[in-house]
Amino acid sequence: MIALGCDHGGYELMQEVMKHLDELNVPYKNFGTYSTESCDYPDYAKKVAYAVAQKECELGILICGTGIGISIAANKVKGIRCALCHDCFSAEATKQHNNANVLAMGGRVVGPGLALKIVDTFLNTPFSNDERHIRRISMLED
Ligand code: RB5
Repeated sequence: MIALGCDHGGYELMQEVMKHLDELNVPYKNFGTYSTESCDYPDYAKKVAYAVAQKECELGILICGTGIGISIAANKVKGIRCALCHDCFSAEATKQHNNANVLAMGGRVVGPGLALKIVDTFLNTPFSNDERHIRRISMLED
């Protein structure tokens, strides 16, 4: 189950992400926002971050205008490793090296074509399980 959250700046791109996940039969839980009306990105970042940290959902996807505010907010929650990615190389590397559990993107930064490829890369790339990456990730929790 993928937890989804966005603010008004990410609303339109999130509609594309949901359509894409529907086509792939990937189950998700949409934590909002549910319109383009102005709202506060920390609210949605926290809903998704808690769902992932408490293992209600396996991974999360967050979108705001830049992806910056919503990723900062998500990373305040213990156990969350939220990666802001606007290219497929980063999306692949952050799963392999950081075992990122939340992807953030900026709806005003990337178009849907690239964003959906980033989503696919993020969802389909496994963690490397390398000892050095396990050690470094555990150091993030200290
Ligand atoms: C909203 O205007 C915008 O500030 C927000 O979506 C995001 O880009 C913040 O980092």
